[in-house]
Amino acid sequence: MRGLETVLLTGCAGFIGSHTTVSLLDSGYRVLGLDNLNDYYCPDRKRANLAEVCQETAHPERFEFLQADLRDKGRIEQIFQEHRVDRIVHLAAMAGVRNSIEDPALYIDCNLNATLYLLDAARDHKVRCFVFASTSSVYGATRVIPFVETDPCDRPLSPYPATKRAAEMLGYSYHHLYGLNFTILRFFTVYGPRGRPDMMAHRVLDNIYFGRKTPLYRGGEMHRDWTAVSDIVAGVVSATGRELGYAILNLGRGEPILVSEFVKIMERQAGKRATLQEAPMMDADMPYTYADISRARELLGYEPRVGIEEGVARFHEWYRATVLASRAV
Ligand SMILES: NC(=O)c1ccc[n+]([C@@H]2O[C@H](COP(=O)([O-])OP(=O)(O)OC[C@H]3O[C@@H](n4cnc5c(N)ncnc54)[C@H](O)[C@@H]3O)[C@@H](O)[C@H]2O)c1
Repeated sequence: MRGLETVLLTGCAGFIGSHTTVSLLDSGYRVLGLDNLNDYYCPDRKRANLAEVCQETAHPERFEFLQADLRDKGRIEQIFQEHRVDRIVHLAAMAGVRNSIEDPALYIDCNLNATLYLLDAARDHKVRCFVFASTSSVYGATRVIPFVETDPCDRPLSPYPATKRAAEMLGYSYHHLYGLNFTILRFFTVYGPRGRPDMMAHRVLDNIYFGRKTPLYRGGEMHRDWTAVSDIVAGVVSATGRELGYAILNLGRGEPILVSEFVKIMERQAGKRATLQEAPMMDADMPYTYADISRARELLGYEPRVGIEEGVARFHEWYRATVLASRAV
């Protein structure tokens, strides 16, 4: 197995991480996948994701899984002593805006301190590039659309984007001081097979199939730039192979739609109506997300390919085969 580069991929058992693992393996990398399999949502689902990775890839022999917690600095140092790491793709994080309001310290530990430990290791072991998963939430409540990477991003609405923005800036310091190639990818509302159960797409289908009410914040008059996971992963893999100095790139679809419209598309797929319930918008919610993706197009050759109807159909198919099949309706 000599000659192949090794990517340390954190969060490999999660939603985006599991798809990224398959794509990196099939693109010719060895993947050292790391995850602590935490219980933010069911760890069995994460184990199932790992099993699916090994079935889906043509190269399971290039994959090694390490169960480890990134908050453990000593463990990270040990991993870098024991393995050669050429590139880092850092997806592991506590995601979720609402949960971050409940437990901000957990988000500082997992999203900021853990990133610092990885940055130290990247510097000490001369890693060629560090790709960091950030979020459209760093743009805050701006009404200036579409969101461009040069926008200020200094008013995050909750601890989750605050920790992501802080980690982005720490990455700049390491680029400036040590010449580390640090590429920030700001993901916009990712959905698709293996989607997180706390995210809207999953919750709407749960509510439709299990006869529960779906809260519709502001009557669904909010826009989201939903982006299919396969498009996001194509952007991540492209960024992994490039040394861009310090770069911030939006990965979205660049075509936001209304939340109420998204719910209608889900209803059509399910062949059932959702029971909608008016609800006020949370203070931490953004009214709009809308990515300008011209930089990603230019620097990564990024091009979103999956339209919203097709993306929802794929997600629904996975949901039926996996979630519904395991629960009585
Ligand atoms: N899903 C989205 O719409 C979205 C949007 C913007 C940004 N992101 C970012 O993309 C990345 C992946 O998100 P996802 O939706 O796949 O979430 P996910 O929760 O499915 O995956 C994250 C994984 O990281 C692992 N993890 C968390 N803390 C860890 C720690 N301390 N040590 C080791 N492993 C740890 C978790 O066990 C999980 O498997 C995250 O950084 C998230 O903030 C996601």
